[in-house]
Formats: sequence, structure tokens, C-alpha cells
Amino acid sequence: MKQTGAALGLAVEWLKNCKSLFVLTGAGVSKESGIPTFRDALEGLWANYNPEQLATPEGFRKNPSLVWQWYDSRRQKVKDVVPNPGHFALAELQKMVPEFFLCTQNVDGLHIRAGSSDVVEIHGSISRFKCFDNGHVQTEVPYDLKDPPLCECGSLVRPDVVWFNEPMPEKLLKQSFTAAEKADVALVVGTSGLVYPAASLPFHAKQSGAKIIEVNPNRTELTDSCDLFLAGPSGEVLPQLVEGLK
Ligand code: OAD
Repeated sequence: MKQTGAALGLAVEWLKNCKSLFVLTGAGVSKESGIPTFRDALEGLWANYNPEQLATPEGFRKNPSLVWQWYDSRRQKVKDVVPNPGHFALAELQKMVPEFFLCTQNVDGLHIRAGSSDVVEIHGSISRFKCFDNGHVQTEVPYDLKDPPLCECGSLVRPDVVWFNEPMPEKLLKQSFTAAEKADVALVVGTSGLVYPAASLPFHAKQSGAKIIEVNPNRTELTDSCDLFLAGPSGEVLPQLVEGLK
């Protein structure tokens, strides 16, 4: 879907003159890699469960095997997909602006696999594990386990992702707010803007005078506060932005 020349041209203009770019991505940026967005991740087998049952400490305590298997199926899916042109465009964009900060809500690791560096994974990573009681880091966790393995301390092992009702990694959150407040342009890609505090980051950038550009096929909770809305899939729109900067 070609962007209207005007909107795309303006976005390219802002990026050309940008000193410090803050980028927030959500599940939409991985959709074209074949990863369902968070709210439609509960397809098929998982359709009868809601995220609150699967992505919460209570859900894990109540049924560790169910939650473990849901994350294992998502980790397997991530293993079999590749970054899409949207991820690669952001990795290129990082080299084209003086200062670049990428904060992602995604746990799939695709930005890193596309070559982005210093990615802040504010909701953690599906490929990292820790023990439930003490946060002991686990390595080499096999696929296809039916039950969560045990840590040496005896606690159940869990994915190192942020669940509902859990605090976000304080340090990463602070870094992200500082970067958002410093930015003169913020790019918000593929997020419904429903989950806080991540969704408040673009507002922090705006309060500090940044211009906000949103890339999404659909309007979202954030759209009305954005200065520019580029309607379309990020796998098509982001490469067009990068092309325009060359
Ligand atoms: P959502 O599933 O809430 O929203 C996905 C967004 O991607 C929607 O706005 C879609 O319109 C958009 N989208 C779909 N296809 C797209 C495409 N090809 N290109 C660009 N955008 C596209 O996912 P998130 O906003 O990421 O938290 O959800 C935020 C958080 O809610 C997740 O990180 C998760 C959940 O609670 C945790 O796991 C802690």
C-alpha cells in the first residue's frame, strides 16, 4: 500500500532533520513475519483461554504446565520465522540518525535478529528464562517440555517475560522514558497502545516537544495524539521511509 506522497514526504523530512529518534514497537511489527499479534495470538488451540489466564503469575501458579506449553509453542514459532522488511528497515534507520533508541514491547527477539543493536526489550524475551521464586537465570532450556523444569533452588522455571500485574524492568523503563523525553521525533509502530506504562512513552516524547509518527494499518488509542499517521503495514511503510532518507 503506497503511502500518500504528502504524509510520507513529511515523515521523511522530519526524520532527515531528526537529531534523536525514539522508536516504540509492538506486536504489529512482527505480524508480517508470521507472528500473530498479542491479541490474536490466542488462535486455534489457545482460543479458549484469555491472556490473563496465560500471561500472569496467578495463571502460572494455577497451571504451570498450561502456561509453560503456551510459551513453548510461541518460542517454537519464533524459532521458525525470520525478521521482515520492517525489522530490517529499523536496523538501517538506526545507522541513519545521530541518536536512535528502540524500545520494543515484543518478546520475540526479531529486532535483534534483524541487526538492531541496544534494543530495549521492555516486556522481556521469550527466549530467556528465570526461576519463579528467585529470578535465577536459566540457560539451555529444551523445547517440547510438557512441564516447566526446576531451578537448582527448587523453584519452577518460567519465561523471562513481563506478565500482566507484574512490574516492568525498572532500569529499562527509566532508560526508555529518558530517551523518549530527549527525542525530537518518535516513531510508534504496530502497537494498539493499550498497555501501560509502555503506551505512555509516546506521550512523554510529545510533552517534550517531539513530533510523533505512527505506522499502523489501523487507527489506535494513540492515533489522535500523533502528528502523522501512516496507514499501512510496517513491512511496507518503514522501508519506504528508509528509501526516502537515502
Ligand atoms: P496488540 O495485539 O495489542 O496490537 C497490535 C497492533 O499491531 C494493532 O494496533 C494492529 O493494528 C497492528 N498491526 C497489525 N498488523 C500490522 C502490520 N502488518 N504492521 C504494523 N502494525 C500492524 O499488540 P501490542 O500493542 O504489542 O504485553 O500489545 C502490547 C502488549 O499487550 C504486549 O506487549 C503484551 C500485551 O499485554 C506483554 O506481553 C507483557
